[in-house]
Amino acid sequence: MKKKALITGASRGIGSAIAEKLAENGYNLVLTGRDLSMLEKTKTRCEVYGVQAEIYAADLSSEAEIAELFQKSGTLDLLVNNAGFGIFDAIEDIKLEDWQQIQKVNVEGAFLCLREAMRTMKKSGGGRIINISSVVGVKGYPNQAAYGASKHALLGLTKTAIEEGKEDNIRVHAICPGGVATEMVKQSRPDLTDFSAMIQPEDVADAVVYLCSLPPTITVDCIHLRRAASAQTW
Ligand SMILES: NC(=O)c1ccc[n+]([C@@H]2O[C@H](COP(=O)([O-])OP(=O)(O)OC[C@H]3O[C@@H](n4cnc5c(N)ncnc54)[C@H](OP(=O)(O)O)[C@@H]3O)[C@@H](O)[C@H]2O)c1
Repeated sequence: MKKKALITGASRGIGSAIAEKLAENGYNLVLTGRDLSMLEKTKTRCEVYGVQAEIYAADLSSEAEIAELFQKSGTLDLLVNNAGFGIFDAIEDIKLEDWQQIQKVNVEGAFLCLREAMRTMKKSGGGRIINISSVVGVKGYPNQAAYGASKHALLGLTKTAIEEGKEDNIRVHAICPGGVATEMVKQSRPDLTDFSAMIQPEDVADAVVYLCSLPPTITVDCIHLRRAASAQTW
């Protein structure tokens, strides 16, 4: 029987690449995000591999929508907590509502998804959860305080979930990529013009597939993805 994975933020960028790579590796999928037309495009690309892909729109700032998403999704073998966004300002310019919305989606939304997944995986005998944090979850960067705090928090959540999941055969990991060539990096680094040498969304998807290939006897806390041919730390 095929395994089933739920991927948040599957409408574009890294999440869409993860969905495609998991489809290629035989996973049935639940794809979520807010943009249904973009989710449809990801679904079409995934179904080429002969797997089933369900799509459910959900705003991860809504506890009710997350609860409904997991109720519709049923039993899961894998959750990829990928959705996230940033608003990039110097600390003195950050608006409180921007700060709160970033924590709401990137931390609270990810926590609620992780909590739902741990509950269902505990009942079904185990599973795997992969949280997409960031190099910004490890290191500080100018203009990224709100986003960086959310990604540090996601790493903190991962560390506790790793410990709590052990007894229930739930393996939890984080991936902390440096800058990945998606819409988000264009917003956060408007000074950059060449994205071709950057980490590609497919590189992050490969790391997800690697983690999924590990036997349940092995734990990996975090994969840090960086460009090799660069002195830059992101
Ligand atoms: N790009 C980078 O340099 C980089 C580096 C390290 C880590 N990351 C992390 O990787 C993840 C994916 O980023 P990306 O670069 O692929 O960004 P992206 O292209 O902007 O995609 C972000 C995804 O998150 C979803 N999303 C945003 N807000 C949401 C909400 N309120 N409810 C539900 N879904 C929401 C979006 O879906 P809808 O618009 O359809 O809702 C979209 O699918 C993020 O967590 C990001 O922090 C990115």
